[in-house]
Amino acid sequence: MCGIVAYIGRKPARELLIEGLRRLEYRGYDSAGIAVLDGGLTVVRAVGRVSALSDRLDKQTDFDGTLGIAHTRWATHGTVTEANAHPHRDDKAGICLVHNGIIENYTTLKRLLEDRGHRFVTETDTEVLAMLIGELYEGDLEAAVQGALREVTGAYAIAVICEREPDTLVVARKGSPLMVGVGKDEYIVASDPSAIVAHTTRAFPLEDYNVVRLRRDGIRTSTIDNTPVTPKMMQLELDLEQAELGQFQHFMQKEIFEQPAALRNTIRGRITPHGDSIVLGGLTRYSKELVRARRMILTAQGTALHAAMIGEYLLEDLARIPTEVEYASEFRYRNPIIEDGTVVIAVSQSGETADTLAALAEAKDRGALALGVVNAVGSTMSRETDAGVYLRVGPEIGVASTKAFTGQVMVLALLSLYLARRRHMSRERCEWMLAELASVPDKMERVLEQADHVREVTLKYVERENWLFLGRGYNYPTALEGALKLKEISYIHAEGMPAAEMKHGPIALIDDGMPAVFIATKGSQYDKVINNIEEVRSRGGHVIAVATEGDTEIAQHARDVLYIPDIAEPLSPILAVVPLQLMAYEAAVARGHDVDRPRNLAKSVTVE
Ligand code: M6R
Repeated sequence: MCGIVAYIGRKPARELLIEGLRRLEYRGYDSAGIAVLDGGLTVVRAVGRVSALSDRLDKQTDFDGTLGIAHTRWATHGTVTEANAHPHRDDKAGICLVHNGIIENYTTLKRLLEDRGHRFVTETDTEVLAMLIGELYEGDLEAAVQGALREVTGAYAIAVICEREPDTLVVARKGSPLMVGVGKDEYIVASDPSAIVAHTTRAFPLEDYNVVRLRRDGIRTSTIDNTPVTPKMMQLELDLEQAELGQFQHFMQKEIFEQPAALRNTIRGRITPHGDSIVLGGLTRYSKELVRARRMILTAQGTALHAAMIGEYLLEDLARIPTEVEYASEFRYRNPIIEDGTVVIAVSQSGETADTLAALAEAKDRGALALGVVNAVGSTMSRETDAGVYLRVGPEIGVASTKAFTGQVMVLALLSLYLARRRHMSRERCEWMLAELASVPDKMERVLEQADHVREVTLKYVERENWLFLGRGYNYPTALEGALKLKEISYIHAEGMPAAEMKHGPIALIDDGMPAVFIATKGSQYDKVINNIEEVRSRGGHVIAVATEGDTEIAQHARDVLYIPDIAEPLSPILAVVPLQLMAYEAAVARGHDVDRPRNLAKSVTVE
């Protein structure tokens, strides 16, 4: 989604901003722009990649300056054109700004501003904000920004400069992340810490309704009502190497292959030395409430929702706690019932997904204990939950979520066992489950050794435009995830569903040679899955099965088999999803797509 970088200091802003935008490219965007203040204001914008913007800048040698703002845009209001790309300017006071989010009341504000003689040149909601700040400007940029933000509804992270104040940068946030990196006599502001860490690891996040005025000699933080605020400094821990490709072609590929190491990190220190219990430091304060929980609601979007669905099976099966899963976008508007003893768990890689944040706020308002299963340390979600468990899988750059998914399932398995052991599970059973859990990384390495075979199988079917993904029980959500992965990066139409649901309609789609991927691992519903496979086969479908090593029967039923090691059924999705991630990756590469920047998609969906 959109990205912001802004700089005020003593170095030339231009290169620094472009380098920052490059670090944000993974988030997904369709155009980019930069504005630098150097006596006058220079604004350069381009449709397409940051490299296109950089090429344009190279042709313009006549501007320098140590104060500037930059942006990558993911279109929401207005088509993808140079005119709609940020930064946007007002027509009166020399205001220039970049904006992430959506100004919801922009049509009303636009009409008012037009009545006062302002003329708009773009289709964006952001230009309205620039005009409004210009309209309110009376020689104090900070006051004008505060005044304008009191008039707007919606979500924003903004960085604003003004030709008449060459030493001031003003930034603000509501509902869209923004962070200030603090260096020596310089500040770098960004919507994502990855654009900050190359310069400084001292930073603070803006809270909702915060406005920060930055000058080279110091900063002032307040609310939009001008109440002073003390920022909470933090140390950024992002390792820049983790954001580099190394030997891999794409971040998605790198992240698929680093899953065993990532999951070792997820587990590290969380299983007691005797292997009979679980320690989740982040939950200690709420341990009693959790053990006595009457109901859990897991809420998320996309891949995180699929992990949450596996969490539902885990929490009910292992911990015996009634659990529901709901799209955050539905939960937030649905008047949900939150009774005493309800725990709401938000699951998210980024910790910034707008709908999941809103669902969390709704749950808290209604009195639920709110937990987070989140990857990004210091993200809004991690700050706004009562307690939580980090995934610890490291930064995920690829738009298609992979290691975050397995990390989420792993944490939800740990949480289920943590509660199960404290509620009713025997020591012996818990010990066995924990040993199985600890074996996941090694077993996953064995799955990854078969990457070449997965490629060969994928290439047989890559021309087909419609695929089915089918599973039962714990692996029904795995089927959904397999279909989502294939869709989002290879643009092949894929549907995931419970294998038994097929007979209720989708079976009509099966024609000669249609690929149908079955998760057919050994488990409580194996025989039923075999029946479903036969239903597809007899209608001409080509079955690709993900099966358990040592299963000698499956090859009679499927055209192709991808084997995974045997593992306790509740943990099987963590291994079974890996061949599906690899298939999606190989299909996208074979079709020549930009794997890490799939069309129309953003890494983190920070608008509704
Ligand atoms: O950052 P989150 O985990 O909250 O993001 C949720 C979804 O937007 C995300 O999982 C999305 O579906 C991915 N593109 C899936 O690969």
